[in-house]
Amino acid sequence: MQDPVDRSRRRFIFQTGVGLLAAASMPAWVRAMEMHGMPKLTPNRASPAFKPDVEIELAARQGSISILPGQATRVQHYTAKLLSGPKDTLTELPSCYLGPIIRLQKGQKVRIHFRNDLMEPTITHWHGLHVPALMDGHPMYIIDPGETFVYEFEVINRASLNIYHPHPHEITARQVYYGLAGGLIINDEEEARLELPSGEYEIPIVLQDRRFNAQNQLIYGPHMHDRMMGFYGDRILVNGQPNAEFEVASRAYRFRFLNGSNARIYKLGWSDGTPVTVIGVDGGLLESPETFPYVMLAPGERLDVWADFSGRPKGTELTMRSLPFSGVLPMMAEHMGGRGGRGGMGGMMGGMGMMGAMALPVGSDYPLFKIRVTRETGESPKLPSRLSKIDRYTLDDVANPSKPVPIAISESPMAMLLNGRSYAFDDIQPFERIPLDTVQLMEIFHTSGGGHGMGHGMRGRMMGMMGGHGSDAQPEGQGMGGMGMRGGMGMMFSMAHPIHLHGDQFQIISRTVAVERADSYATVKDGLVSSGWKDTVLVMPGETVRMIKPFHHFKGVFMYHCHNLEHEDMGMMRDFLIE
Ligand code: C2O
Ligand code: CU
Repeated sequence: MQDPVDRSRRRFIFQTGVGLLAAASMPAWVRAMEMHGMPKLTPNRASPAFKPDVEIELAARQGSISILPGQATRVQHYTAKLLSGPKDTLTELPSCYLGPIIRLQKGQKVRIHFRNDLMEPTITHWHGLHVPALMDGHPMYIIDPGETFVYEFEVINRASLNIYHPHPHEITARQVYYGLAGGLIINDEEEARLELPSGEYEIPIVLQDRRFNAQNQLIYGPHMHDRMMGFYGDRILVNGQPNAEFEVASRAYRFRFLNGSNARIYKLGWSDGTPVTVIGVDGGLLESPETFPYVMLAPGERLDVWADFSGRPKGTELTMRSLPFSGVLPMMAEHMGGRGGRGGMGGMMGGMGMMGAMALPVGSDYPLFKIRVTRETGESPKLPSRLSKIDRYTLDDVANPSKPVPIAISESPMAMLLNGRSYAFDDIQPFERIPLDTVQLMEIFHTSGGGHGMGHGMRGRMMGMMGGHGSDAQPEGQGMGGMGMRGGMGMMFSMAHPIHLHGDQFQIISRTVAVERADSYATVKDGLVSSGWKDTVLVMPGETVRMIKPFHHFKGVFMYHCHNLEHEDMGMMRDFLIE
């Protein structure tokens, strides 16, 4: 039996952050009720003082959707109903398991009644949005079947495409895989002034990969090697549909890409070699359009692409492909044929050999969707030369110019870790405590060789960085799994990770790669968009990424983790405490 008084006391404790340390003194029977060490809190209720401009009822439920010809597919999906607010707030994607696109305006106050109609716990996170910690969908706020969690927040983000998806610890990957995800678009005045293509000329493109069995049912059963590499499907779905095609007029479109795959990384390129014109990324519009021969898109990342079909005669066909690249999987798996197809040296290394069986290898060349020009028109909007204003941070703005907040990636067949630790609730380390209203320099790096550290002791470097900010506490040495592996074997397991940080968006200031991994890096580097506001960054093997992130507005617990969802569920996830 749970005591509501005690639960609300604990809720108060957790919200204020005090309890993160006090939790240890809780009676044993309270702790025993915690799932995976996670507290069970009373779901948040509506507060009468909050006056919403938009009110939505959102539910996660089981359902059945026709995806492939024949039998319908059982899915988990979001459904939503607008209770009050502008009529264009919700847009359903036709016969699709994805939740409706939620369209919000900057400055709006939003209340979302989220009901769990699944048969297992869940909670929803608004990936990309900066909202109070209690509204962020941290796994500690999971709700049981039948319960409702009420979110209330004001939209403070700039115009951007974001994602809503589940975030329950250790089952996020499976819930997303079975269909729980949706796009959340924010509009603002700066964007509206540009009069970018809208309505039928603004197309959401959610990329996912899935495996189906002979009865058209989704297969999800990650084995050890899937957990290490991430779970890959053998079919590409675009907005939940196989063999996607878009019929367009000969004019400019705005394609809003979102990688909603569990693990698959794409290298987007037009089949005829037309450069890809990028106008925005995770955190919204760039300052001005940038063209790339191809663009990388890792799980959790978004891209705003200007696709101009002007002058293309009726009947023109064009394909968006994922082009070949390497370096995403550990060298060992790639050499075993994981990328190049079946066979190879498969079998020699037991489980590793099974990588050879990947049917649609990540990094191979395959089509994503087709464009057909079905209507000619002479009029098209022009690509604006200036899109938005971005105030650039420099090292002069940061509180810690010589001591970046570390995000150390360590990789081994047994565990993918951040800062040497697997996720545990209430396990915040000194270097994970960040003062509110500061701007921090951060550095993501691999402990197993890479960056500029190869020669002079990654372990020592990491220990130095982890000394905390104004604190003399040291992390425990025992948690540093994999720390000792430099170069050599360690490097063999190094792979790509899309690292996502909750809270404010950040700016990337530098990317460097170890010479040992320069060859595979060369197959992706011209498609990394680093100039805009980001919340997820693809970190390649051997790569070190430095960025500057503000910690404004809200105190509390905000996560950082790998957005390879199998990695996340394995515990490649940590908390920052903003205080
Ligand atoms: Cu898209 Cu913490 O997640
Ligand atoms: Cu990862």
